[in-house]
Amino acid sequence: MENKKFYVTTPIYYVNDVPHLGHAYTTVAADVIARYYRTKGYRVFFLTGTDEHGQKVEKAAKEKGLTPQQLADKVVVRFIDLWKKLNISNDDFIRTTQERHEKVVQEIWKKLEEKGDIYLGEYEGWYCIHCETFWPESQLVDGKCPDCGREVQKLKEESYFFRLSAYQDKLLEFYEKHPDFVQPPNRMNEVVSFVKQGLKDISISRTTFSWGIPVPTNPKHVIYVWFDALFNYITGAGYLSDEEKFRTFWPADLHLIGKDILRFHAIYWPAFLMAAGFEPPRKVFAHGWWTVEGKKMSKSLRNVVDPNFLIEKYGVDPFRYFILREVPFGLDGDFSHRAFIHRFNSDLVNDLGNLIKRSLSMAFKYFSGIVPDYSGSPDPEEKEYRENVLEKFNEFQKNIENVAYHKALVSLWDIISLANVYIDRSAPWNLKKENKIEKLSRVIFDLIETIRIVALGIYPFMPETSQRIWEQIGYTDKIENHTYEEVSFGRIEAGRKLNKPANLFERIDEKKALADLEKIMPAPEREEEKKEESMENIIDITQFAKVDLRVAKIIKAEKVPKSNKLIKLEIDVGELGRRTIVAGIAKHYSPEELPGKLIIVVANLKPAKLMGIESQGMLLAASRNGKLKLLTVEGEIEPGSKIS
Ligand code: MSP
Repeated sequence: MENKKFYVTTPIYYVNDVPHLGHAYTTVAADVIARYYRTKGYRVFFLTGTDEHGQKVEKAAKEKGLTPQQLADKVVVRFIDLWKKLNISNDDFIRTTQERHEKVVQEIWKKLEEKGDIYLGEYEGWYCIHCETFWPESQLVDGKCPDCGREVQKLKEESYFFRLSAYQDKLLEFYEKHPDFVQPPNRMNEVVSFVKQGLKDISISRTTFSWGIPVPTNPKHVIYVWFDALFNYITGAGYLSDEEKFRTFWPADLHLIGKDILRFHAIYWPAFLMAAGFEPPRKVFAHGWWTVEGKKMSKSLRNVVDPNFLIEKYGVDPFRYFILREVPFGLDGDFSHRAFIHRFNSDLVNDLGNLIKRSLSMAFKYFSGIVPDYSGSPDPEEKEYRENVLEKFNEFQKNIENVAYHKALVSLWDIISLANVYIDRSAPWNLKKENKIEKLSRVIFDLIETIRIVALGIYPFMPETSQRIWEQIGYTDKIENHTYEEVSFGRIEAGRKLNKPANLFERIDEKKALADLEKIMPAPEREEEKKEESMENIIDITQFAKVDLRVAKIIKAEKVPKSNKLIKLEIDVGELGRRTIVAGIAKHYSPEELPGKLIIVVANLKPAKLMGIESQGMLLAASRNGKLKLLTVEGEIEPGSKIS
């Protein structure tokens, strides 16, 4: 047995939100790889947990009338409960409010401050008083707070900085030596080009709120939540609490994260580690984001997928299977109930379920449910079959080691197809009729062996289902105590008693399931949602009055060079003067027919540049089915007249 180690982590989840599909995704992915390496005989350490400090948590707690610690204590239970339901086999659960972690963060802080990698400076940024948050200019939306939309003001704050700039070259050297450090490869390119553009020192302390680990040398500051959070991976591995464990498991072999937090993990994190004298992790894999039925998952849309619901309705393993099979790991994907049901019925009920049922039924029919006696060496057909199965199993292992879950599952399902083809080709029913009992024994024996191999393969993905399959082929012990060294043909003993085939999964009635789903969304909520949707489109008179609509006379019109859509118009807007506007009407009007027309324009629109020409307003036109007509005024009226 190999005596290697594997350390895998999930991000630690903020406790300002309850767990949803996105959180379950990374955690299940980490669980699968942890179970896989255990089955390979590795010493595995799998860490997950919660990120409990920071302004977001402080704010969420305040809104609920709780202290941040009370909120954390409440929400953490939701995560722990869900991980239990999802059969997550984490070896530890870290909370950043634990003493063991605060100690590590403060120790490291002191070390870096002494070294000069942390220094006191001044942070200048845009501050939103309402949200009590500093925002970098790049995150403002139309110059306003991206959270609440209010005005922000430029403020200075005393802050500690991490000397990230000093690590630019070291990082680039590290990436060069470890080109697979970030996966998928396109994400590695993103990271490298970001670092090449130049790294600035980053602010890593705050004085505007207090929910965090105090800076040990200056407690009026709290440590920035990311500096605190990232070091969870070090605390969890035993630093300052279990040095032997730490020596065994650090560096982490795989940090699984979502694409939105890549920069923190692929740039800041290795730089922090280099500064503190630790080896950087071996791999950071950034997966994509889930949308739900084509829309971004959001509380206001009430489309947040609660894994609890799916687990209760369809079982835990189909959920684990679906999320890793449906979307290539690394890409964005869409969760739809219909797709879930399709995969359930076709992959689990038809392919997997039928193979087992079919094979075991034949074992019962022809050999009374006993593994048939197998004698002699395999014939060529059988040899080829066995080789193909084992080759696919190797492919499965390579895929999972490359963190390509969907491909790993495809390899396993290829084994299922090989077995189904093998049944059809060897036609056991004819062998029986022709009394070719030795060949019949071999076919059935190989099928049972294939089922055993498939059970071992799917174990990391579907631990409960693999155990049930295990028991169907007559084992009474735990499948998790077996390793991939047992993946070969000829191991199961002849004479073993099989169990009567039972359905692994009951087919879902798609129509009924989708109709039930409709019912589950409570009607009043749906009503409210409709109301909300339509309300979004309603504006009041004051909002309408903000739009300055005027009559304007077209003086001149000419085509915009190199554009087949745009016409540049010179218009007279009475007391507002002459203006230039650019309009996308060239496919519907020729410049010659426009001068003299009295049109309607929005006169107080923020100017915009189109093909290098500044457009100082917008004309109104009606369009439908590719047709477009300008709004013009009936009869004569002065240019500049207001429209109300
Ligand atoms: N606390 C930080 C992580 C610190 S790690 C040292 C954090 N927490 S989070 O709770 O906001 O997000 C945790 C993870 O959930 C991220 O990896 C994020 O990508 C993932 N997801 C959140 N919504 C998601 C989807 N809709 N789809 C897939 N994953 C998504 O960030």
